[in-house]
Amino acid sequence: MKVSMSPPHTATSVRLLVLAVQLVLLVCGSQARDDTKRCKLFSESPAERKVLGLLEPLTNKTFSVETTSDKERYTYQFQVCGDVGKTVGAGLVQIGHTEKKVETVLGLYTVTQAIGGSDWVMLIYSNGTTYNGHCSKEMRKAIVMISCNRGVEMGKLEVVLEERERDRDCFYLFELDSSAVCPALPSQLSAGSIILIIGFVLLSVYLICGFLYQRLIVGAKGLQQFPNYVFWTEVGNLAADGCNVVCRTQGPEEEPPTYRGVSTEPEEEPEERDDHLLPM
Ligand SMILES: *[C@@H]1O[C@H](CO)[C@@H](O)[C@H](O)[C@H]1NC(C)=O
Ligand SMILES: *[C@@H]1O[C@H](CO)[C@@H](O)[C@H](O)[C@H]1NC(C)=O
Repeated sequence: MKVSMSPPHTATSVRLLVLAVQLVLLVCGSQARDDTKRCKLFSESPAERKVLGLLEPLTNKTFSVETTSDKERYTYQFQVCGDVGKTVGAGLVQIGHTEKKVETVLGLYTVTQAIGGSDWVMLIYSNGTTYNGHCSKEMRKAIVMISCNRGVEMGKLEVVLEERERDRDCFYLFELDSSAVCPALPSQLSAGSIILIIGFVLLSVYLICGFLYQRLIVGAKGLQQFPNYVFWTEVGNLAADGCNVVCRTQGPEEEPPTYRGVSTEPEEEPEERDDHLLPM
């Protein structure tokens, strides 16, 4: 009966080992999504792709914001490398709150530029609907400034301004906070925790193999199933002795007098009863 049951310590070790392996896989495979590939760069470059890749956690979500001025009300909708509104390829649209719900494309994600700094990414969608009178009737362009904010994964989209009182290069400017564009905290995860994980895995393997060996081949029971049980108890004893020597500097000098008083000359002491009480 006892043999068929796996020892509880081994089961726990296996579970912890599986957990550690999953953790390693998670750390290595966190960049597996590639929804930003749907964006077509105005001019393809690996560096720009990398900047765009930072925005991966923001994909597949429609950001929406409403503005109201004296006579116009608009809703703006934005997606990172995804469709909004009725036009295929539109990444940012403006929808009027009139009966007709006029939809103006401010930029296509099929004509994207991505510029990145240490803690921000500027996403530019071009080739939107042409202006009727302003800006030499060029095509509309939208700029979304995404700034690092470790407190929010996906912040709220905000309209900053529409610059159209000029001849060329007009644009709509938006901003958005996100932790996705924050610089990585390098030392904490890379070096320290990977060494920890490796040490943890090695310890688990050592414990599991040791347990199995001691139990199945040596046939040990109870605490003896710990691999190298005798060795580790000796290490423990040595450590305790070392502590005694290092830490208890005044212990041996102070104790002998009381000890001697009790054991060797009990009869000479007038207050015999107190001495009996002391060691207890
Ligand atoms: C995002 O949406 C695309 C298409 O709608 C889909 O193929 C993809 O799996 C989605 N990704 C995630 C992470 O939901
Ligand atoms: C965007 O506009 C530029 C300049 O007008 C044009 O050359 C290009 O083909 C357009 N791209 C798309 C995908 O519409």
